[in-house]
This record gives sequence, structure tokens and C-alpha cells, in this order.
Amino acid sequence: MAAALRALAVLLWVAAAYPVVFRARPLQALAANWGTRALHPLPGDITVRLLRDNGFDKVKLFEPDPNALRALGHSGIQVMLGLPNEVLASVAASVNAAEQWVIQNVSTYVSKYGVDIRYVAVGNEPFLKSYKGKFEAATLPAVQNVQAALVKAGLARQVHVTVPINADVYESGDGRPSSGDFRPDIAGLMVSLVRFLLDSGGVLTINIYPFLSLDADPNFPVDYAYFPSPGAPPSQASVQDGGVLYTNAFDANYDTLIAALEKHGLGTIPVVVGEIGWPTDGDKNANVANAQRFNQGLFDRIVAGKGTPRRPRMPDVYVFALLDEDNKSVDPGNFERHWGVFNYDGSPKYPLRLANGRAIVPAKGVRYLSKQWCVLRPDASATNPAIAGAVGYACEYSDCTSLGAGSSCGNLDARANVSYAFNQFFQAANQQKAACNFNNLSVITTTDPSQGTCRFKIMIDTGRHELTGKSPSAAPRVALASSSSSWSAVLLLALVGLTTLVAW
Ligand SMILES: *[C@@H]1O[C@H](CO)[C@@H](O)[C@H](O)[C@H]1NC(C)=O
Ligand SMILES: *[C@@H]1O[C@H](CO)[C@@H](O)[C@H](O)[C@H]1NC(C)=O
Ligand SMILES: *[C@@H]1O[C@H](CO)[C@@H](O)[C@H](O)[C@H]1NC(C)=O
Ligand SMILES: *[C@@H]1O[C@H](CO)[C@@H](O)[C@H](O)[C@H]1NC(C)=O
Repeated sequence: MAAALRALAVLLWVAAAYPVVFRARPLQALAANWGTRALHPLPGDITVRLLRDNGFDKVKLFEPDPNALRALGHSGIQVMLGLPNEVLASVAASVNAAEQWVIQNVSTYVSKYGVDIRYVAVGNEPFLKSYKGKFEAATLPAVQNVQAALVKAGLARQVHVTVPINADVYESGDGRPSSGDFRPDIAGLMVSLVRFLLDSGGVLTINIYPFLSLDADPNFPVDYAYFPSPGAPPSQASVQDGGVLYTNAFDANYDTLIAALEKHGLGTIPVVVGEIGWPTDGDKNANVANAQRFNQGLFDRIVAGKGTPRRPRMPDVYVFALLDEDNKSVDPGNFERHWGVFNYDGSPKYPLRLANGRAIVPAKGVRYLSKQWCVLRPDASATNPAIAGAVGYACEYSDCTSLGAGSSCGNLDARANVSYAFNQFFQAANQQKAACNFNNLSVITTTDPSQGTCRFKIMIDTGRHELTGKSPSAAPRVALASSSSSWSAVLLLALVGLTTLVAW
């Protein structure tokens, strides 16, 4: 049922969207990951224009998101389309399942919507150690079946297969890139996989995260995580490898993989960087200054086309990520929802020079909900015993990852802290009045409670908002509006739960 309701929402959305076609040539070959795990996703047409306006002509999707794919139709933007890990087993087990996947998720968008799909990324980091081998057996057969399905669909010349691999599939015993080799438990599989990719005209995709290296190891040399600024002396931690000095983690990491590939006679496979970036919040190392430093260094390298010592030409590099996603799992850490170069609404987080020295520009045409926030009542006591439950509840259904120590809202006093949580819930619930009624502890205000680095957000009006009407009598129609997609079903659930909370 959720799928049918979602389809309905898509129909409504498509009917409401005006056709926007961008045909101008891109400024430069920049590439980005467009994740869609947001409670209020930036509308597809606005996102596509944001990409174009900033010189991105390649995009990577983690799944065949219909809104994103339709918006990419006739945009001139090339697409790497993810086949999620969850479908690896079925696609590996049956050629027919692979064919169906390709027909519905690739052929349709290519022929019917004019989407320029160039790659199917089969799985996402399937050999990650923490998966404990769960996807190992299925990955290569899935790649083979998808390739066969692409051939059968007549798409094999345009669309190629790849697998995005986590950097933990290779290692170097002595820290020098030239000593790189595959993780022993996965070496045989990697060789077979890469050989197949080579034979079928595919590429290998690698995700590299100096941020995670820095964050995991208190002794990791900070400078080495970043690209050296021009003219600056190399980091103390630079690695001498024969005649080559490695001055940063990216170069060393990438070349460790290249050395591993060369060791197995696979040195000719193109290696794309599928994810690389720096988050701005939710962790002590995640802030605007660090992200700007890393990403500016990265974009300078991309624009200059300067690769690594072993691969002097910079490959395609998909920055992670385009936008913040406030509904991503926080298993890796609170920073996981803050990787965007842009905020959730397509506004830049910090200045960046992109292609041709042009400054980053914001999304255009974004519509917001009303200028109002939900806060702790001024006359409510901060020691009211109901507050803890209310905050816990608000944060369960909305994003409170900016409240942690060292994060952008980590310095709020107790009252403002509660207000932040209330407001996040209220915004997630499309500012419906019933969502600002925490046991009579909250009140709606039109005064922006933002302070210092802590921004009290106003959510995007994703269009669904119209369904609730903007009249003061919107509340009774909440249930009706909320049934229009699985997305608002969560909020409906939340609101039902809220009633329970209030009663209790
Ligand atoms: C299209 O892709 C989605 C996401 O992987 C999947 O759930 C769906 O089953 C696919 N369609 C077909 C016909 O396989
Ligand atoms: C603010 O809220 C968060 C999440 O509820 C909590 O972990 C933190 O301890 C709070 N800080 C203060 C100062 O109340
Ligand atoms: C809510 O609280 C305010 C003051 O804190 C009080 O005046 C009002 O009567 C309360 N309303 C309900 C329904 O309890
Ligand atoms: C948010 O994430 C949860 C957990 O993954 C999921 O069940 C829910 O459908 C997501 N909501 C939206 C709007 O994507």
C-alpha cells in the first residue's frame, strides 16, 4: 500500500511540476552524489538546476529514485545509478530478476524519460568488513547478470557496470602505497570482479574518506587528511615511497589501490572515485571550516585535472554529498546527516570556488513553510519532568544530531536545547499545529530562535504541504494529507504517538 500511495504522490508531484529543460553545455566535469534520504527532499527540478548552475554534469544516485530520475531526464547530466545491496541476492540468483530490474529501472528512464544513464553501480560497498561477508557471494553474479541484462536490453554500449568499493578492501603492510594489495580474505574475489569489469568495459569505483581515517584515530596526522594548500610545506606525516613523496591521504589511498591492481595484472582498469567529502556537523572534526578546507582542496584538484603519482589524470570524482539528508541512519555517527556541500535546502554552507573559479551558487525557486518555529513555552519550567520524554519523542522522529557535544547547537542552554528539539519535530511535521503541543510545554513563535552557529530551521515546502491547506483549520485535515505518501505516514504515526504522549 505504501508503494501505491507513494506512486500517487509522485503523480501529484509530476502533475504540479512545470517542465524545466536545461540544454546549455556544462562548465566543467564536476560530479556529485545525490542522496534522497531526507524527510523533505529538495524537489527534483530544483536539484537538477542546482547541479547545472554549479557546473556538475555527473550525478550518482544510490537507488532508482523516480523523482530524481525523472527530473534528470533531458538535463544533459550523466547518471551513475545504484542497485542497492538489498537486491543483490535476488539479482544474483536469477537472470530474469536482473532483466526486470534493468527494464524497470534503466531502460524505462533511458527511453521514456531521456535520462543519460552511463553506469549501473551494482551494490554499495558490498565487501565492507562490517557486513561480515553478507554480500560477498552475491556481488559478482549480480554484476554478471546485470551486464547480461544490459546487453539484452540493447544498452550495453551506453551503460556500463561498476561496483563501488570501500577503501577497506585493500591495505599496505608498511604504509607505502607501492606495497598495496587486496585484503587477503577478499583478494581472489576482487581479482575476478575487476577482471570481469575490465572485460565488459566497466570501471572500478572506490570510496575514500580521509575524514573517517582522522576521526577513527586520535593519532592520525591532521594535515595529512587534507590536500596541501599551494606553496605550503608538506605535512610532517608525508610518506616517502621510493622517489615519490605522498603529501596527503587521498593520493596515498588511491595509489595503494592502483598498486594492488597492478600487482594482479589489472592496472588498466579505470578507477572512479565514487564518494569523497567532509561533513559539517555532528562531530568534533565535522565543521564548516574543516569541510571548506577539504572540499576546496578537492575541487581545486578536480578542476586542475591533477591526479595521483600513479594515475596523473584525475578520474571522475563524485563528491559526497550534494545535500544534507536528515533521515539517514546515524549508525556511523551523527555526522552522517551532514555531508552536504549544500544545506538541506540547497543553500551553500560555505564559500567554494568551483569550475573556472566561479563561486558556488544557491538553489533557486525553493519554497519554504511559514516563518514560524516551535519552542519551549517561556512560562514552562525547565525542570518540568515531562520535558525529557517530550524531547526524546521529538528527536526520535526528527533530526537532533546538531545538539551533540562539539556540534553546531552543542552550546545551547537547557531551555534552547529543548526548543531546538521541539522545532525539529514541528518542522518535520510540516508545521502542523498538533505537532507543537508537547504536553502544553511548547508554543509557536514568529521570532527566529537561532543563535550563534545554531540555526533553527524552517523546512522546505515540498508541495505536499498544499494538501493540508494553509488555513487555521488545517489540523483536522492532518490525517487526510498524511495518507498521501509513506513519508508522511511516519509523521502521522508520530502525531498519533504524540497524542498518546500528551495523554500520558
Ligand atoms: C527497481 O529498483 C528498485 C530498487 O532497487 C527495486 O525495489 C525494484 O524491484 C526494481 N524493479 C524491478 C522490476 O526489479
Ligand atoms: C541537549 O539535548 C541533547 C539531546 O536531547 C542532549 O543529549 C544534551 O545533553 C542536551 N544538552 C543540554 C545542555 O541540555
Ligand atoms: C498550558 O500552560 C499554561 C501556562 O503554563 C496555562 O495557562 C494553560 O492553562 C495550560 N493549558 C492547558 C490545556 O493545560
Ligand atoms: C526515514 O527513515 C526510516 C528508517 O530508515 C524509514 O522507515 C522512513 O520511511 C524514512 N522516511 C522517509 C520520509 O524517507
